[in-house]
Amino acid sequence: MAIRVGTDDDADFFFHVEEETTIESLPPDFHGIAREELRARLLETHEILLDEEGHIFFIAFDLHTNQKMGLLWFGPRRNHITGDQEAWIYNVTVLPEHRGCGVGQKLIEHAENHAREHGFRAIGLAVATHNTGAQRLYERMSFKSHNVLMRKPLDSE
Ligand SMILES: CC(C)(COP(=O)(O)OP(=O)(O)OC[C@H]1O[C@@H](n2cnc3c(N)ncnc32)[C@H](O)[C@@H]1OP(=O)(O)O)[C@@H](O)C(=O)NCCC(=O)NCCS
Repeated sequence: MAIRVGTDDDADFFFHVEEETTIESLPPDFHGIAREELRARLLETHEILLDEEGHIFFIAFDLHTNQKMGLLWFGPRRNHITGDQEAWIYNVTVLPEHRGCGVGQKLIEHAENHAREHGFRAIGLAVATHNTGAQRLYERMSFKSHNVLMRKPLDSE
């Protein structure tokens, strides 16, 4: 397995993986959202964010077959307490058939090295509370949870 920087040629893979992961981790009150609508919103978000300076994605691939195994989307993000720019993992996903073989860990280590090389002093990510498997991996890699994001829909009564 090796890791390389993603290019425009990987766009279809990137969007496919982003869509699947978003659907996998949708909070309960979004469960009714239509796939087409979700896809359109994701494309908009990605266009906005990926154009920002420092955003990059990495592709894990099989050295022998060239087959893509997973991706990690990296970018800077402002820490609103310190005001510092910190490294942020916007998404890390490994294709289901390649999970549990160390690819996710390698992608995160790669992002950590990239962050160090670019002078970042911390790296963070957000993970859904129900995603206990991913949390186990992050904790094993010394990530600590600091905040829980909370949200409620404001329906008109
Ligand atoms: C989370 C994820 C990226 C981990 O990648 P991976 O290559 O399977 O991880 P590794 O092989 O390096 O490490 C294995 C650990 O990952 C975690 N893990 C989470 N989901 C897993 C799954 N479906 N299969 C295997 N391991 C999983 C476990 O902690 C596991 O450790 P354990 O075997 O001691 O329980 C991957 O499971 C995935 O793509 N999940 C779906 C998308 C997702 O939830 N992304 C995170 C968004 S914040």
